[in-house]
Amino acid sequence: MIFRDDLLKGKVIMITGGGTGLGRSMAEAFGSLGGALALVGRRLEVLQEAKAALAALGVPVYIAALDIRDADRVERVIDDVFQHFGHLDVLVNNAAGNFISPTERLSPRAVDAVLNIVLHGTFYCTLAAGKRWIERHEPGTVLNITTTYAWTGSGYVVPSAAAKAGVLALTRSLAVEWARYHIRHVAIAPGPFPTEGAWSRLMPTEELAEAARERVPLKRVGRHEELTTLAAYLISDEAAYINGEVVTIDGGEWLKGAGMFNGLEVLSDAEWDAIRAKMPKRSS
Ligand code: HXC
Ligand code: NAP
Repeated sequence: MIFRDDLLKGKVIMITGGGTGLGRSMAEAFGSLGGALALVGRRLEVLQEAKAALAALGVPVYIAALDIRDADRVERVIDDVFQHFGHLDVLVNNAAGNFISPTERLSPRAVDAVLNIVLHGTFYCTLAAGKRWIERHEPGTVLNITTTYAWTGSGYVVPSAAAKAGVLALTRSLAVEWARYHIRHVAIAPGPFPTEGAWSRLMPTEELAEAARERVPLKRVGRHEELTTLAAYLISDEAAYINGEVVTIDGGEWLKGAGMFNGLEVLSDAEWDAIRAKMPKRSS
């Protein structure tokens, strides 16, 4: 870590989906920087495992089984977090559901599953934390984990794209509306970072995983510590003037997809020579 090791000292940080993948990596990073953690998700076993590992490092950890699609339960768990630690400083909306599928194959229940986790669940958690911060006259920070296709859209993950676009709108809207209450909103848009949850549902074959890597101009996937370093900075007091910003960390992936001529990287030097020879030599 590039930070002083008390960067997040005294901060209580709630991470949805904090028992696995990027959520778990953020929990480890924030804990090592002095943060106390509230980790929630549907599977209590993975949360217990994360708690045991973090507790062994001396990190205070609260866990609760929570399906963020259940708004009443979200309210109860967030109340419990405030009671347990006395306050909450940061909410990280990291939990998500996603899988690749042609859109026409989706049932309404499949659409609901993703939209309810990603958009509604994120909204319920934000609302529950925000209402309490406002009532208590306490500041807060919300970090939303989105994706780059929140602004470009993407086929084959359409419920996720639609939901993440909604989370992007939530981030930017509340960054303005709740600034008067000293509640900051920031977001990270990651490119591919290997996790069991994402890889098993989005890149279930080696060919798909390889293609994902190749699409990145830097020709590699992200390292978890690259994302957790950014996240730690964004939720820290050092980033107090960053509000409403979405930081992309994707090795240039989405820009490559956006550029009309980026596919020309397949041409060899000889092919470029041949192309040049066919072009007009000078204007006449
Ligand atoms: C088509 C599918 C499907 C699939 C489920 N369904 N998987 N349809 N293709 N692969 C359908 C089911 O048939 C069902 O519809 C409906 O969706 C609900 O399914 P359940 O299994 O009952 O849902 P649930 O238990 O609520 O699980 C939610 C889930 C699941 C989203 C479907 O995948 C999950 O729990 N995911 C959480 C973790 C995750 O997704 N991590 C990846 C995040 S990565 P019917 O009509 O049959 O009842 C990410 C960004 C990555 O977000 C960016 C790129 C690198
Ligand atoms: P992951 O390990 O599958 O993380 C998803 C987490 O969300 C799990 O811990 C899961 O735990 C939890 N979750 C899912 N549904 C939930 C619900 N209804 N209620 C509460 N918790 C729920 O995948 P990941 O790759 O780390 O993804 C983390 C975040 O990064 C997501 O927002 C994802 O969209 C984003 N992202 C990831 C990548 C990548 O390449 N990995 C790229 C772009 C964006 P339970 O199953 O126990 O509930």
